[in-house]
Amino acid sequence: MAGKVVLAYSGGLDTSVAVRWLQEKYNLEVITLTVDIGNVPDLEAIRQKALKVGAIKALVIDAKENFIKSYVFPAVRADAVYEGQYPLSTALGRPLIVRLLVETAKKEKARMVAHGCTSKGNDQVRIDVGVAALAPELKVIAPAREWKMTREQTIKYAQAHNIPIPVTRASPYSIDENLWGRGIECGVLEDTWNEPPDDIFLWTRSLEKTPARPAYLDIGFERGIPVTLNGRKVEPVALVQKVHELAGRHGIGRIDHVENRLVGIKSREIYEAPAAVVLLKAHLALEDLVLTKEQLRFKARVATEYADLVYNGLWFTGVRQDLAAYVASTQRYVTGTIRVKLFKGNCQVVGRKSPYSLYDYSLATYDKGDVFDHSASPGFIHIWGLPVRTQARVQPEPPE
Ligand code: ARG
Repeated sequence: MAGKVVLAYSGGLDTSVAVRWLQEKYNLEVITLTVDIGNVPDLEAIRQKALKVGAIKALVIDAKENFIKSYVFPAVRADAVYEGQYPLSTALGRPLIVRLLVETAKKEKARMVAHGCTSKGNDQVRIDVGVAALAPELKVIAPAREWKMTREQTIKYAQAHNIPIPVTRASPYSIDENLWGRGIECGVLEDTWNEPPDDIFLWTRSLEKTPARPAYLDIGFERGIPVTLNGRKVEPVALVQKVHELAGRHGIGRIDHVENRLVGIKSREIYEAPAAVVLLKAHLALEDLVLTKEQLRFKARVATEYADLVYNGLWFTGVRQDLAAYVASTQRYVTGTIRVKLFKGNCQVVGRKSPYSLYDYSLATYDKGDVFDHSASPGFIHIWGLPVRTQARVQPEPPE
C-alpha cells in the first residue's frame, strides 16, 4: 500500500465510489471521516457503509455544537449574507470539515486527505485552500475532479464494484444541508425560468399550508449571540433547531438565488434557511437599536467583505481574523431582546428592547415629554447648509 488517506465521507454515491477508486487508482488505505454538522440521517449506518465499501477505518464526529458556536454564531454577529441573499450555510461548514480532516490526518499519520467535490463548485476551493493553510504538507486528492466519469458512469462503476447506490440518487437534485441551511441545485432548477417545484422543500411549508395565525417569538441576544427564546436560556444547537422548526412551519426561509460562484459561473441555487433568516434579521434589528449610524454603516461594509471571504474559501486567513476582531468589538453592547412575528412566509420585527438602546423616547417623541432643543435647529441648518450655499453661489447649476 502506498499510504493512508483520510476521505471526507458523506455516505453518498460519489464519496462511496471514491473509497474504492482511491484504492484502485492510488493503492491507498482509506480512512473515512463523516462530520455531523446537522441532518446527517444515521451516522452509524454511514460508518458501516464506509467499512463495507472498503475503508480500513470509519470515523464519525458530531460537530454540531462546534459548528454553531465557532462558525454560525460568529457569522450572525458579522451579519454575513452572500450577495444579500445566501446565509452561507454550506460555506461555513467547510472550514470546520477542513479542520477536522487535518486533525484526523495527523492523528492517523496519513499524508493525504481527499474530498468528493467536483471541479465546478466553490467547495473544492474552500477545502483545498483550507488544507493548504492549516497543513501545507498534506496532499489533497479530489477523486470526482479527476475521474472524469459522468453520473451514469459513476453508477456503473458502483454497480460493478458492489457499492450500494442510495435511493436518493433517484432525485435529480444536488443537495447539501446542515443546521444552518439546505442548498438545492440541478435538475429543473437549472432553467432560471422554472419556478421551484414544491417537492424540493423539506424544511419550509408552502404558504397554502402555513398556520392561519401568526407566531410570536422573543429572541434574546448577549453581545450579538442569541441565547434565549421567550425568556428562557437555550443551548446553541437547540436554539437554532427551535427557531428552524417554528419559522419553517410558517413558511419562512425560502431563498431563490442566482449566485456568482468563485469559479466564474452563475448558478441558480434554492435555499431553505428558516433559522438563519430569522436570527440574522433579529440580530440586525438589535444592532439598529444599539449602534450609531456610523457604526452601522461601516459594519455593513465589513459584513459584505466578511461574507465574500467566507464564500470564497478564505476562512483561514489573516484578513478574516482581522474582520472578526472588528466584528467582536462592535458587539459589546448588542445585548437585548427582539420580538418577531412569523406569519405566511414573513418574519417581521415587531418589538425591540435593550439596556443599551440609543433610542431615546424623550428625543424622538412628538408628544409631551419632548426634550429636544427646537431652538437649536435653525443654527444647525445654517451651518449644515453653508457649503451648499457657497457652491450654489460660485458654481451655478448647469441648464437642464
Ligand atoms: N452554492 C452554495 C455554495 O457554494 C451551496 C452549495 C450547496 N451544494 C449543493 N449541492 N446544493 O456555498
